[in-house]
Amino acid sequence: MTIQILSFDNYQHQARRLASALNCPHTRIELHRFPDGESRVQLPPITENHLVFCQSLDFPNDKLIELCLAAKTARAQGATRLTLVAPYLCYMRQDKAFVPGQAISQQIIGALLADLFDDVITVDPHLHRISRLEQAIPCKNAIALTAAGLLGEFVRNRFDNAVFIGPDEESEQWVKVVAGPGKVDYVVASKIRYGDREVAINLPDYAYEGRTVLLVDDVISSGHTVAESARALRQRGAREVLALCTHALLAPGAEQLLADSGVDRLISTDSISHESNAIELAPLLAAAMDKVYKCKH
Ligand code: R5P
Repeated sequence: MTIQILSFDNYQHQARRLASALNCPHTRIELHRFPDGESRVQLPPITENHLVFCQSLDFPNDKLIELCLAAKTARAQGATRLTLVAPYLCYMRQDKAFVPGQAISQQIIGALLADLFDDVITVDPHLHRISRLEQAIPCKNAIALTAAGLLGEFVRNRFDNAVFIGPDEESEQWVKVVAGPGKVDYVVASKIRYGDREVAINLPDYAYEGRTVLLVDDVISSGHTVAESARALRQRGAREVLALCTHALLAPGAEQLLADSGVDRLISTDSISHESNAIELAPLLAAAMDKVYKCKH
């Protein structure tokens, strides 16, 4: 495949995995952060017309500016096709102004990315009121993948007598895939969110006693959704609680919170680098890149 993959050093392991899955070169973008917080970005020599920037957008503000500098420079150097592979896509949650004057970040950041890139590939983006990623990012190819199949393959047959649980209605789409086709051993709890770090979880009736429970969610951010679920499951006699997610965002304090609430183990994809990464997204992303590459000709 005649493409060149570029990444900043913070995401080089995942970018190299993608390059090796696609059998194409990987090169690093040099980044310098000045003492005042500004960034200096320097691209490597460009050898292909089609460039793929691989960068997850957790803690996104600096990264967005740096991607913008990199993409505009690549265009100025003659690149004709730019693809962004951002396993975690930021700013997708706010899709509505809840009070007048609130910025609708999904539209604004989506338009910015569509201006910079021809294609955007992401995994399990946080979309509430829209069903297709291209509604948020109006570029040539806006591709939303899901890691639920990979999470399911990882856990299947590893845990005896396990029950799968999604902590809120939204998570049903992932938990039913992770539990496996035709599997009835999954349940979905209900959640009320009172604030960034305040949620209440109501578990459905089920025989949790003595069971291994696998909590499945797309994102663990403050950790409160999973922590409250784990606490409730322990109170109902669960023997072991594991948390599975695509994106281990893990805001400061989240890991301690999970440990204190009785989560025995966290299992995540390598969308965001963390010691809980157990599942590589490269094969999934490479398959999507194949489609993008073919559709250009
Ligand atoms: C909610 O809609 C998401 O699927 C996650 O449940 C949520 O983002 C997790 O956030 P936190 O870890 O802050 O509770």
